[in-house]
Amino acid sequence: MSFFHGKRILLGVSGGIAAYKTPELVRAFIKQGAEVRVIMTPSSKDFVTPLSLATVSNNPVYSSFIAVDQDNPLWNNHVEMALWADFMLIAPATSNTISSMVHARCTNLLLAAYLSSQCKVFVAPAMDLDMYSHPGNQKNLDTLVEYGVEVLPTGEGFLASGLQGKGRMLEPLEIVSLIEKSISKNLPLSLKKVVITAGPTHEAIDPVRFIGNSSSGKMGFELAKRAANLGAEVVLISGPTSQKVEHHNIQIEHVVSADQMFELSKSHFPSASIFIASAAVADFKPDHSATQKIKKGENFNKINLVPTPDILAHLGSIKENQFLVGFALETENEIDNAKKKLKHKNLNAIVLNSLNDPNAGFGGDQNKITYIQPNTAPISFELKSKQAVAVDIFDQIIVSYEKSS
Ligand code: C5P
Repeated sequence: MSFFHGKRILLGVSGGIAAYKTPELVRAFIKQGAEVRVIMTPSSKDFVTPLSLATVSNNPVYSSFIAVDQDNPLWNNHVEMALWADFMLIAPATSNTISSMVHARCTNLLLAAYLSSQCKVFVAPAMDLDMYSHPGNQKNLDTLVEYGVEVLPTGEGFLASGLQGKGRMLEPLEIVSLIEKSISKNLPLSLKKVVITAGPTHEAIDPVRFIGNSSSGKMGFELAKRAANLGAEVVLISGPTSQKVEHHNIQIEHVVSADQMFELSKSHFPSASIFIASAAVADFKPDHSATQKIKKGENFNKINLVPTPDILAHLGSIKENQFLVGFALETENEIDNAKKKLKHKNLNAIVLNSLNDPNAGFGGDQNKITYIQPNTAPISFELKSKQAVAVDIFDQIIVSYEKSS
């Protein structure tokens, strides 16, 4: 999934020549699955048409307080627009618009929306060389920064005036990438590596048969997506599953057996901040795997089993600063047994899956969990989708991780 997927972006376009690049900017966000609404200042329409921006954004474009309809003039609600947005971007931001933002002059719909906004606001200034370096403009930009606005740099190059130097609006893709960096830097798990094991493991009996289980991997994949959306760099070590994930922050490593999962887990663990073992690792494997398919008529009536490595217990024994989370599936004395596992495997937390609800667990889309930490009362959650459970789990992890680090 792309970074801007599902994000609501309010783009304010003011009247500079760089406005002609804004359809490309809108398109770059839309391509990533964002929803974009555009507000234009009246003078920006000299540089780019509302029709172009309405077409690329798939939304009506607003520029005045009142929508022109002869019989039923409508009030364009700038407050609603500003509150709708996850973030606002003003590009290009002219000297005039920047100065009005600083002085809270509410002379057009764009400024009204900015002054009513509660979200993060980015500004991509676009001016001529001397205008940009004028102390008045530099001071205004500093003031915007003091107000909490993020002022993007300007590019260098040929300016519409014929001069060459600073003041040019950044190229659309540069703006998109700087905003992505800025937002992800402020997310709770940004710069953290989160490693998650997911799915079953298959322990080969021969080239076509194995010992496995019916884990779907859904819980682990939802955890990976949640961690990635919280800004983490995620490594998802997955056993055989039909789950798919596409997210720029998720690196997926496919494994088949417990031994392979063990090796990859050990190699990623030292650099991990958080490690979550949600995989249903097979506890036993055949002591050897036949190199050829065992034939029906062969005298084959027994498989010698040996234990697989307990990945989680091993990681608990070598743990340094990592926040280590395991899963438990118990059928009796659930909480007590989970607590014992928490202690025995030296974990920071354990997620107990309930087997008491027929809709929860292994193959399904829902789960019902209890989150258990040492020296704290267990927290039980309602039955909910695995996606919502992943949110609950990370809400808990983030609180305790921040305390412990
Ligand atoms: O001891 P038990 O198998 O019940 O523990 C379950 C937890 O341990 C899960 O988090 C699971 O991913 C992990 N585990 C493991 N390696 C194994 C068996 C279980 O990492 N061989």
